Amino acid sequence: MENLCVFKTILIFVKISNPMNDKLFRKKDITAILKESEKSNNGGLKRNLTAMNLVALGIGAIVGAGIFVITGQAAAEYAGPALTISFIISAIGCVLAGLCYSEFAAMIPVSGSVYSYCYTTMGELMAWFIGWTLILEYLFACSAVASAWSDYMLNLLEGWNIHLPQQLAQSTFNYVDDAWVFTGSIINFPAVFIVAIISSLLLGGIKQSAMVNNIMVAIKVGVILLFIGFGLSYVDVSNWTPYIPENTGEFGHFGWSGIMRGAGIVFFAYLGFDALSTAAQETRNPQKDMPKGILISLIVCALLYVATTAVLTGIVNYTDLNVKAPIGVAIDSAGAGLAWLSPLIKLGAIAGLSSVILVMMLGQTRIYYAISKDGLLPPVIAKVHSVRGVPHNATILAGIVTALITGLFPLQVLNELVSIGTLLAFTIVCIGVVLLRHTQPNLKRPFKAPWVPFLPLLGAFICIAQMVALPIPTWIRLIGWTAVGFIVYFTYGIKHSHLK
Ligand code: ALA
Repeated sequence: MENLCVFKTILIFVKISNPMNDKLFRKKDITAILKESEKSNNGGLKRNLTAMNLVALGIGAIVGAGIFVITGQAAAEYAGPALTISFIISAIGCVLAGLCYSEFAAMIPVSGSVYSYCYTTMGELMAWFIGWTLILEYLFACSAVASAWSDYMLNLLEGWNIHLPQQLAQSTFNYVDDAWVFTGSIINFPAVFIVAIISSLLLGGIKQSAMVNNIMVAIKVGVILLFIGFGLSYVDVSNWTPYIPENTGEFGHFGWSGIMRGAGIVFFAYLGFDALSTAAQETRNPQKDMPKGILISLIVCALLYVATTAVLTGIVNYTDLNVKAPIGVAIDSAGAGLAWLSPLIKLGAIAGLSSVILVMMLGQTRIYYAISKDGLLPPVIAKVHSVRGVPHNATILAGIVTALITGLFPLQVLNELVSIGTLLAFTIVCIGVVLLRHTQPNLKRPFKAPWVPFLPLLGAFICIAQMVALPIPTWIRLIGWTAVGFIVYFTYGIKHSHLK
C-alpha cells in the first residue's frame, strides 16, 4: 500500500514536472539562428570588425592588471623566476578553451557567446544559467580592473601633487578577517569615473570603440616591448638562479607546487579572449576571423607575458617583487639608464587597464542584449540605437551596475569571483563542443577544434581542477549569485521566453 502511494506520488510529480521539463530543456534551433544571423539587418548590429580589429580587441581585453600588477606578487610568493613556466602552463589551458570557443564562434556567429551556444546544445535553463554566469564574469572583471585603474590613477595624481580626499579614493566596503567593514569612504570615485567614460565611448558605436581600443593597445604593447627590449641589457643572470626556488615545505610556495599555484593565479592575466566571441555578430567574416582573432591574440599575449616575466625577474630578485607596480620597481632598480621609461610604464598601465574595461564592458552589454532578445530579460534591454547600431539600453544598464559594484567593493573580492565564473564558462564550452559534435555531426564547421573529444575534455578537466582549488567563500558567493539568477528566471524568463 505504502509502495503504491509512493508510486502514485512519483507519477503525479512526473506529470506536473513534464510541461516544466519541456520549458527548461527547450532548445533554439541552430539552423534558424544561423539563418537569422545571415540576414542583412543582422538584428540591428553592424558588421564592422575586421580580423585585425579582433586581434586588437583580444589583446585589448587580455593585457592588463595581470601583467602590470599580479606578475610580481606571483613571482615573489609562489614561483620565483619559474613564473615563466606558470605562464606557459596557464596559456595551454586557455588555448584548449580558446580552440573550443573558436569552433563555436565560427559555427554560430551570433552575439551572446557561450550563452547562445548553450541554448542550442543544452536547453534554456542551462543557457540562462551560463548567461547569468557570463554576466558575473564580465561585470566583476570590469569592476575589478576599474578598481586597479583607480589605484594607478591615484598614484599618478599623487606624483603630480594632486590628492583626492580619502572619502573618494577607496571602495565603500572592505572585506577584512572574514567580515565586511565600512571604510568610511563614500565611493571609489576614479573607478566610477573610468566606467562612465568607457560606457559613453561604447554608446558612440562599435567602430569608434574599436578605434580607441586600437590606440590603447598600441600604447600598452609598445610600452611592454620597450621594457623587454631595453630591460634585457640590465638583466643579471644570477637572479635566475635558482630558477625553481626550493619549496618552503608548504604546498604552493615555490617548487613545482608553487609553479602550479602561480599558473592558477596568472590565469587572470589571460582572461578576456573569450569576450571576443560576444562580438561575432559584429564581425565582417566571423567564420574565418573569429578563430584567428581568439588564437592569435592568446598566443601574442603568452609570448609577451613570458618575455616580460623573464626580464622582470632578471632585473630584480624575485624576493623583492611583492609590490603593487612590479615593472615600475624593476625600472627604478635599473638606475638612471632606464629612468625615462618610468612615466611611460604608468601611461601604458593606465591605457592597458582602460582597454580591458572597454572590451569586458562590450562583452557584458552583448550578453544582456542576447538574453533579452530571447525574451529572458525585458525586451527594452535589447533595443538597438537606430543610428549608432549599438544596444544603448544594455550599455547604460551595464554602466550603472558596474559603476556601483566597482565603487562599493574592493578589488580582491571581485577578482576571485571573476576566476570562478570564467572557469565555469570555459568548462561548459569545452563540454558543449563534444555534445554538439555528437548531436549535430553534419553542421558546417568552418573551424574545427582538433582531437575531439580528448582535447576539450582535457580542457574541461583542467578548468574544473582550478575551480576546486578556489576558496570556499568564493563558492558561496557563486551559489548566491546563481540563486538570484534562478529567481529572475523562474519569475520572469520562463514566462516571457520567445520559445514559449
Ligand atoms: N586579463 C585581464 C587583465 O589582466 C583581465 O587585466
